[in-house]
Amino acid sequence: GLPKRVKIVEVGVRDGLQNEKVQVATAVKIALINRLTNAGIQSIEVGSFVSPKWVPQMADTAEVVRGLPVKPGVAYSVLVPNMRGLEQALETGCREVAVFAAASEAFSQKNINCSIAESLARFGPVIEAAQKAGVNVRGYVSCVMNCPFTGDVPAEKVAEVAGALYAMGCYEISLGDTTGAGGPLATRRMIDACARQVPVTALAGHFHDTYGMALANIYASLESGVTAFDSSVAGLGGCPYSPGATGNVATEDVVYLMQQLRIETGLDLPLLVEAGNYISTYLERPANSRIAKVLSAK
Ligand code: HMG
Ligand code: MG
Repeated sequence: GLPKRVKIVEVGVRDGLQNEKVQVATAVKIALINRLTNAGIQSIEVGSFVSPKWVPQMADTAEVVRGLPVKPGVAYSVLVPNMRGLEQALETGCREVAVFAAASEAFSQKNINCSIAESLARFGPVIEAAQKAGVNVRGYVSCVMNCPFTGDVPAEKVAEVAGALYAMGCYEISLGDTTGAGGPLATRRMIDACARQVPVTALAGHFHDTYGMALANIYASLESGVTAFDSSVAGLGGCPYSPGATGNVATEDVVYLMQQLRIETGLDLPLLVEAGNYISTYLERPANSRIAKVLSAK
């Protein structure tokens, strides 16, 4: 049967805002994060320590992290592509980081300028150093069904990369449908392949909603035993290296789905909608969430 409870990892401030054309003010990022944690979010990505030439939107990550209050039960996380990123994370006092690999060679080159094997070799010492500092490490695999440059990606390749990251010490592996082109049958095949290398309870689904498949893919993942999902409030997001990709599935929509399935998320939907409307107003566009639109019209 389906789980009683799932964990939602809010990625809008990182995955969402990294893809915005405007530079969102640091104070607005901090206010958004505080609104999200007030709505019950306990796991939240707040930025990334990557090259500011590659992703200028995340250049203020250190100021964002320094501006956040300590909240019991709340884990703020940042993406780190290499040792340099980890060092910045540690200096800033981060307690959780994420490394990010891909299941497609072409995407790995475009996103982090190295091969899959080189990236895994680079992450080994990063994960080790993080763990020595008592910092939790999450691992990402991008292009888990489809690559924007080369098309279909075999589930076995995804499972291999996921298994490698888990073996190196990542506590959870987030499986990214970067293009959003995958559907529920491919999702199940991919999750089931990964679950042969990594305990299914250590897998998370990260679905972009470009083709409107994200909720269907989440349901398929639930049926395969996945209990953690990434989402972006107001459907913020995309990927600078995945042309045409739109945002992650909206957190509001995932929470509504879970309510309908009687699955606990610990989140307050009206407060989430308010948080989404706050950043959408700043970005001067409506929230990209069906549920936010319905509840805001009431
Ligand atoms: P590189 O050019 O191969 O690395 O880039 P390098 O070591 O030769 O350094 C190049 C320059 O970057 C140097 O500066 C370094 O100092 C600097 P310069 O001398 O030219 O002035 N640099 C750094 N600066 C700040 N922080 C650092 C850092 N490292 C080097 N940590 C690199 C390699 C990985 C750095 C680069 O490719 C990069 O920053 N990539 C970022 C990619 C990224 O952030 N992508 C988006 C996140 S992944 C994603 O969205 C997918 C996900 O959502 C899941 C899904 O949906 O699939 C997670
Ligand atoms: Mg993503």
